[in-house]
Amino acid sequence: MSSTSAAPSVFEIPTLVTDRLILRAWRRADLDPYAAMNADPLARVYQGGPIDAAKSFEIVVALMGMWTLDGHGMWALELRSTGEFVGRAGLYIDLGWPGVEVAWTVRRDLWNQGLATEAGAAAITWGWEHLDVSHLFSVITPGNLASRRVAEKLGFHVQAENADVGPWRGQVLYRLDRPDGA
Ligand SMILES: CC(C)(COP(=O)(O)OP(=O)(O)OC[C@H]1O[C@@H](n2cnc3c(N)ncnc32)[C@H](O)[C@@H]1OP(=O)(O)O)[C@@H](O)C(=O)NCCC(=O)NCCS
Repeated sequence: MSSTSAAPSVFEIPTLVTDRLILRAWRRADLDPYAAMNADPLARVYQGGPIDAAKSFEIVVALMGMWTLDGHGMWALELRSTGEFVGRAGLYIDLGWPGVEVAWTVRRDLWNQGLATEAGAAAITWGWEHLDVSHLFSVITPGNLASRRVAEKLGFHVQAENADVGPWRGQVLYRLDRPDGA
């Protein structure tokens, strides 16, 4: 059988290891813990509210597909000490986005331990090494102070305070410029 397309059909998702996390390709075993995170109204308060397992599954398939489509995407986060799935982070792009976004979500019982910042830093380093972009972005709802703090700790600065990005109105658009030589 011959192929009619020259485009690659598979992209090998890289694995990154940080002090406490493994950023890796999604697995079917991640679906239940990811759906549980997405059922949490507090965790989803700035992302349109809770969603069900079927929608979570669609998101995981889309996030995996993004790697093949764009050559970057969101990793599943695994806690090295326990092997548990604890969130997602990576390099995301959607319709109407200003560019590649660095995005992060961590399981609620592990908040405020620096895990989102640790994952975001690894994603950024990988992004500068592998993507031909001069800026990375983060799109954050103004009241999401924890996420804004993560962006600031990672060196992002505010490009626009009241930005409409894709379907999201009134967002804070953060920008990170490629460091010299990176
Ligand atoms: C945003 C999120 C990923 C942060 O994850 P995390 O692992 O707790 O992040 P970190 O521990 O690396 O950093 C959190 C920082 O926010 C600070 N913070 C937390 N809540 C805060 C609040 N209400 N006001 C101000 N700062 C706050 C923490 O003190 C910490 O800063 P510090 O290190 O200077 O003390 C997590 O809250 C989350 O998953 N939220 C739900 C999903 C979400 O909103 N994702 C982002 C979409 S843009």
